[in-house]
Amino acid sequence: MKILVTGGTGYIGSHTCVELIQKGHEVIILDNLYNSSIDVLDKIETITGVRPKFYKTDILDKEGLDKVFAENDFEAVIHFAGYKAVGESVAIPLTYYENNIAGSINLYQMMKKYKVRNLVFSSSATVYGDDFEVPFKEEYGLGTTTNPYGTTKKMNEMIITDMNKAEPENSGVLLRYFNPIGAHESGLIGEIPNGIPNNLVPYIAQVAAGQRDFLRVWGNDYDTVDGTGVRDYIHVVDLAKAHVKAIEYAATHKGTEVINIGTGKGYSVLQVLHAYEKACGYPIPYKIMERRPGDIATCYADTAKAEKLLGFKAQYDIDKMCEDSYRFTRKLKM
Ligand code: WQD
Repeated sequence: MKILVTGGTGYIGSHTCVELIQKGHEVIILDNLYNSSIDVLDKIETITGVRPKFYKTDILDKEGLDKVFAENDFEAVIHFAGYKAVGESVAIPLTYYENNIAGSINLYQMMKKYKVRNLVFSSSATVYGDDFEVPFKEEYGLGTTTNPYGTTKKMNEMIITDMNKAEPENSGVLLRYFNPIGAHESGLIGEIPNGIPNNLVPYIAQVAAGQRDFLRVWGNDYDTVDGTGVRDYIHVVDLAKAHVKAIEYAATHKGTEVINIGTGKGYSVLQVLHAYEKACGYPIPYKIMERRPGDIATCYADTAKAEKLLGFKAQYDIDKMCEDSYRFTRKLKM
């Protein structure tokens, strides 16, 4: 299929482009390069032998979007483009709503104009909020989001659901990611955080690389195995493969499906830290701090629907995730 990947030079987007190309799909990337760099195209070409067609375009630029669709006869869209820093979204909510909602609506309107009917949307487990028991199941619906970033994901799910009710020929798969980590085993692509990493593994990676002195562990008084937060970490390549299955599912079905993409297994902060120590071969210093506002104790996926509808099951374990993350970070520093 000929697929538009918005945000395709980003962390999850670039890994998904690699898997799409290796599955034989034609990939066109649209990105404004706000949170990624153009040299990711070189890395994708090195890994796959194919250099995707690229448009430096912002989803807020309606004319630019129209040009991209007019020049390509897309069969499907995978929509990653959006701002994604939880803390930043609290500080600049209007920027997040404009980009993640108005920008996405521009994209959906362009899809309607050019009759592109198959969509996979990058959603997040954050839409469950803290309202439900784990493991989180898709039928729980949308919870109470605790930050504007999470609310934009929730609103996009609602917009796509309503859009597809009005256009029964459309298909939409809303993938709720849990905690993507790791990097492609080539060490060529991975996560390059902007500034001080908010997320656990990119921060641990910088401590391991000697860029930071120690990991701040946000609380060890949760009701979990060792008191630290438990999350469902999934290898970014597993997540990318799930997108290939999702877009192929969307192309052969109608209507809207919400699907969790996780491993179904939770690891605590300290369990991840020790896995990373195994990967890098030396101790990672840490200090227990106060809880981070907005954090929940435990979050992991019920993965039955992904297995049933997509035939997807995550293959990689936490050790592989940490090994691949460490290899990428080490290459980055060289
Ligand atoms: C994981 C655990 C922290 C950093 C967020 C977004 C979510 C999604 C994934 C986009 C928690 C602890 C973290 C640190 C720590 N992003 N931690 N020290 O909060 O589960 O999810 O990223 O879709 O939308 O909310 O991920 O990696 O920030 O935290 O102790 O320096 O690690 O308290 O328990 P989170 P995270």
